[in-house]
Amino acid sequence: MSSEETNQTKEKLRDLKIKTSNLEPHSTRRRELGKIADEYAERFYDGIQNGKAYNTFDDCIKKKTDLPVPETGVGANEVVDILENEIIPPGLNLASGRHFGYIPGGGIHSAAIADYLAAVTNRYASVYASSPGAVVLESNMVQWLCSIIGYGEGAGGYLSSGGSIANLTAVVAARDDSGCKSESYSRMVVYLSSQTHHCVDRALNIAGLGECVRRKISLDDRYRMQPAELRKAIKLDREKGLIPWMIVASAGSTDTGAVDPLNELADISEQEQLWFHVDAAYGGFFILTEEGKQLLNGIEKSDSAVLDPHKGMFLPYGTGALLVKDVEKLARSHRYEASYMQDARSAAGFYSPADISPELSKHFRALRMWMPLQLHGVSSFRNALQEKLALADYLWSEFREMDEIDVSPKPQLSIFMFRWNPDAENVNELNRQLHKKMVSDGWVFLSTTEIDGNVFLRVAVLSVRTHIEEADELLMTVRRLIKEMKASNNVA
Ligand SMILES: Cc1ncc(COP(=O)(O)O)c(C=O)c1O
Repeated sequence: MSSEETNQTKEKLRDLKIKTSNLEPHSTRRRELGKIADEYAERFYDGIQNGKAYNTFDDCIKKKTDLPVPETGVGANEVVDILENEIIPPGLNLASGRHFGYIPGGGIHSAAIADYLAAVTNRYASVYASSPGAVVLESNMVQWLCSIIGYGEGAGGYLSSGGSIANLTAVVAARDDSGCKSESYSRMVVYLSSQTHHCVDRALNIAGLGECVRRKISLDDRYRMQPAELRKAIKLDREKGLIPWMIVASAGSTDTGAVDPLNELADISEQEQLWFHVDAAYGGFFILTEEGKQLLNGIEKSDSAVLDPHKGMFLPYGTGALLVKDVEKLARSHRYEASYMQDARSAAGFYSPADISPELSKHFRALRMWMPLQLHGVSSFRNALQEKLALADYLWSEFREMDEIDVSPKPQLSIFMFRWNPDAENVNELNRQLHKKMVSDGWVFLSTTEIDGNVFLRVAVLSVRTHIEEADELLMTVRRLIKEMKASNNVA
């Protein structure tokens, strides 16, 4: 390059540096943007108490949020304005304490701040050689989770984006541990129930096991798998020449909150030499409470377990965990060779998340779990979970006392179902209408389910912001809406 060409190149590079400087703003601009974002966050928090749990929306939402990507940037106020008024309000407010649908969580502030710091510092949380602090933090969190469910030395796991991916990774580890080759997949049998979360079904398909036999074991009157039926099914399958392989138990099923009899299932899996997996994505953290500990007794005997901190620890979405009793089995499923990763192999004595999970580049997830635990202590979480159990009991008792309301059995954890059952022929339709009315009213939010052909409304108490006041609002709203439906002659 001639010196003139070099000068021209340098001139061009200086010009480009100026043009990209807004990607790396100085402190004053950073603080300005931070202030605008923080003020919106405060308005959001302030609005939760008096805002609806659900805001109806129509198809215009697509038009309103389908904004052009600008060639040059627009102002921060304008951007936050779109976020605040167009993007965030429609649909379910998952931060609301009056959200009793699906599985709530809430999203705690300290985890949001941790997320901000994780993004600012942008550690490479999957490889020890790159970010040892972040990797050790994740390892510590995983070890803490292993200890609360009673796994001993040799156990490990990783923080995933959620329960679905964690269950998928468990299925993959169990598949590889079976030693079966693909020609046997159609003879492998997984034992589960009608209460098993659908992500397990999907995980089997994704893991290449679409053809395996899914044996649904019948349930008792509290929606729990019956061990005697499981034993029978395994025996029959062996007689047929099939390959019993894995038991998937629920420790808090999504629909009914049922906890399968883990101890008995663990014994069967040991006798039959099957992989025992516990999906405790919803119910796992209740093990921090005395009642939960008794109910989840036996989880320590499992080969793998899933817990979702974005449910039971009230973290923002994007945090699940897979724990495996023998971490070597997880490592075997995730081994890889890549010359550009040779510097990343460490002799740290434990696995980096990249060695035992599918992700490489990874959000610094552990920080949003570690920081709240440090700031608030485990007792705050234990008390909050205790509160949710007590609120579910309270609500169940109140619904049971209400006229024309049928309730499901007493909640084992914090989920139960109820159904309006007046003297009418179209009870399912009435419950669908009641739910529809509730959704358009929006003050509280419940989801529905159908069990044995009967439509139920589900009450799931797990939002960090649900307290006695919100529970009473739910009761009042249901009473009010039923009264309105009766007044408008919707009921025969
Ligand atoms: C029992 C259970 N397992 C798995 C999942 C899936 O978890 P995620 O939504 O985090 O992927 C859920 C979600 O509600 C669940 O309740």
